[in-house]
Amino acid sequence: MQLKRAAFGHDFHWGVSTAAYQIEGAHDADGKGSSIWDEFTQKKKKILNGHHGETACDFYYRYPQDIRLMNQLNIPNYRFSIAWSRIFPDGTGTVNQPGVDFYNRLIDECMANKIQPWVTLYHWDLPAALERKGGWTNREIINWFSSYVEYCVKQFGDRVQRWMILNEPIVFTGAGYFLGVHAPGKKGLTNFLSSAHHAALCQAEGGRIVKSLSPESKVGTTFSYSHIEPLREIEKDRAAVKKTDALLNRLFIEPLLGMGYPLKDLKILQGLERFYKDGDTAKLAFDMDFIGLQNYTRELVRHAPFMPFIKAKIIKAGKRNVERTQMDWEVHPPAIYHALMRWSQYKNLKEIIITENGAAFEDRYEEGEVNDQKRMIYIKDHIAQVLLAKQDGAPVNGYFVWTLMDNFEWAEGYYPKFGLVHVNFKTQERIVKASGKWYAAFLEKKALTDIP
Ligand code: BGC
Repeated sequence: MQLKRAAFGHDFHWGVSTAAYQIEGAHDADGKGSSIWDEFTQKKKKILNGHHGETACDFYYRYPQDIRLMNQLNIPNYRFSIAWSRIFPDGTGTVNQPGVDFYNRLIDECMANKIQPWVTLYHWDLPAALERKGGWTNREIINWFSSYVEYCVKQFGDRVQRWMILNEPIVFTGAGYFLGVHAPGKKGLTNFLSSAHHAALCQAEGGRIVKSLSPESKVGTTFSYSHIEPLREIEKDRAAVKKTDALLNRLFIEPLLGMGYPLKDLKILQGLERFYKDGDTAKLAFDMDFIGLQNYTRELVRHAPFMPFIKAKIIKAGKRNVERTQMDWEVHPPAIYHALMRWSQYKNLKEIIITENGAAFEDRYEEGEVNDQKRMIYIKDHIAQVLLAKQDGAPVNGYFVWTLMDNFEWAEGYYPKFGLVHVNFKTQERIVKASGKWYAAFLEKKALTDIP
């Protein structure tokens, strides 16, 4: 099949996504405060091989070259996040002007290269000073976050037309406050439920603030979504799917859409009500201009009577003899089609942007080249599924590859390689991989010959 950019229409948004902590480095430069990721990566045995993001891709200093590279790759849109602790080192209170200047320069550089900046306000790097006051478990976060959002929109809103409030709230509350495998490393149901409720309130409040200060801009927020299927076609596994789906896929989007939390399908979520204050039900809802969908794989789930709370278990790809990535995620392109079609059933969902999709594979660097056929095929196959969903009526209007360049992959350190561009972390040299060249050719509107 020939895949042509034109088939998606002229206003379809193509881009790449990154996140501050994963690429910027300069962890304490120019007055930046510590974030929970700066602190978490210092703790023993939390991150594979003891890796951290102190230097990462050194993007804080190398952004002009990286933006120019994006321009050379024909990438018209760039999604990045702002590190809250560069702007407010203590999370709230005094502004750190050099941090503000950095994002002004970065945005200007994008504009100078004809690249639209798409800004995520929170991609997991909470200022450590706020975590010491309870972080997302403290309801005060709504005020801290609101001031931060307000400040950013006033500073950057003259050039930024697309805002995203949160990145994948289920991941930073689930991995960070329930399982303790991401920063800040907290565990337990109470931490999870309180942080989840406050994050859900912040995502809607953030939307209201952006829209009131910058009515012309488009505001959204992003969610991870994995299409979930039963391991066996039996009732118990189907029930396990329903519960897992409520937790992983519906918990944050449905209250935003005014449907409330999916309490009926996962009883344990009823504990969220402990953190309710008067008026919260209405405050959870906000009519976003777009929603970011982030999909990488599908999950197979089975009934597991001994799993606390959820009585369901995800069967990892490694146990299923299927093609998988370095993250042990199954390669299954139709998952993104199913995700889009499922979201199409939600009323009031105006525009969907695929704000992340991509794959980690082991790369081989040979004679100055990285011939990453697997990543190229993965991306191409997923883009083809997005087109199918669009043709079947899904209101999808954008696709961003995760990610521009190899970077710090959270608990997995630098081991998984997700980039279209290879980074030599000793020299910071960048080498465009075959997948990056393919994407550039695709974006150039040339008809593409099939990948061999
Ligand atoms: C996150 C990224 C992450 C990617 C791959 C998403 O969950 O938003 O920060 O690197 O998936 O794991």
